Amino acid sequence: MIRKAKLSDVEEMYALVNKYAEKGVMLSRPRSMLYEFLRDFIVVEKDNQIIGIGALHIMWSDLAEIRALAVREGYTGQGIGRQIVEYLLQEAAEINIPSVFTLTYQPGFFAKLGFVEVDKERMPQKFWRDCINCSKFPNCDEICLEYKIIA
Ligand SMILES: CC(C)(COP(=O)(O)OP(=O)(O)OC[C@H]1O[C@@H](n2cnc3c(N)ncnc32)[C@H](O)[C@@H]1OP(=O)(O)O)[C@@H](O)C(=O)NCCC(=O)NCCS
Repeated sequence: MIRKAKLSDVEEMYALVNKYAEKGVMLSRPRSMLYEFLRDFIVVEKDNQIIGIGALHIMWSDLAEIRALAVREGYTGQGIGRQIVEYLLQEAAEINIPSVFTLTYQPGFFAKLGFVEVDKERMPQKFWRDCINCSKFPNCDEICLEYKIIA
């Protein structure tokens, strides 16, 4: 079942994201971020546990970001990541967001879903707000990809 995240999901979300962060495959997120942006998040629930999460965060008048996408180990390769991204793109379309981007270490996955690699400098709002606070700034090694909802 795919649904909006609830406060009671946060501990499982935190464990899922930060397990991958420890392996260096995604950025770590503090609990404070998960609570603050909880309304951006959706989760996939199966067997009474959270097996996937992802968030859609509005950046500006014409731009949103897909962030913190993760599918629990043991459940990857079953279409769950695709299901999360397609759900978030549908949410973006419903509120007339024309363009969605992501910063990722898995560009091949997003390319499969129709995202196209773009120059990070195309997303200045991201840098003003988030990147300057990132421990990796200014040496970002993530790839930026964009999905155009309204051409
Ligand atoms: C990357 C991740 C979200 C993919 O989720 P998933 O549920 O395994 O992916 P899906 O099964 O929905 O795959 C959808 C398609 O993308 C392909 N794909 C999946 N991961 C891929 C990758 N790393 N590179 C290229 N293609 C990939 C699949 O083969 C599938 O293709 P198909 O439709 O032709 O069969 C998941 O592996 C994950 O959580 N990884 C760790 C955290 C992470 O890297 N998050 C990325 C955001 S920073």
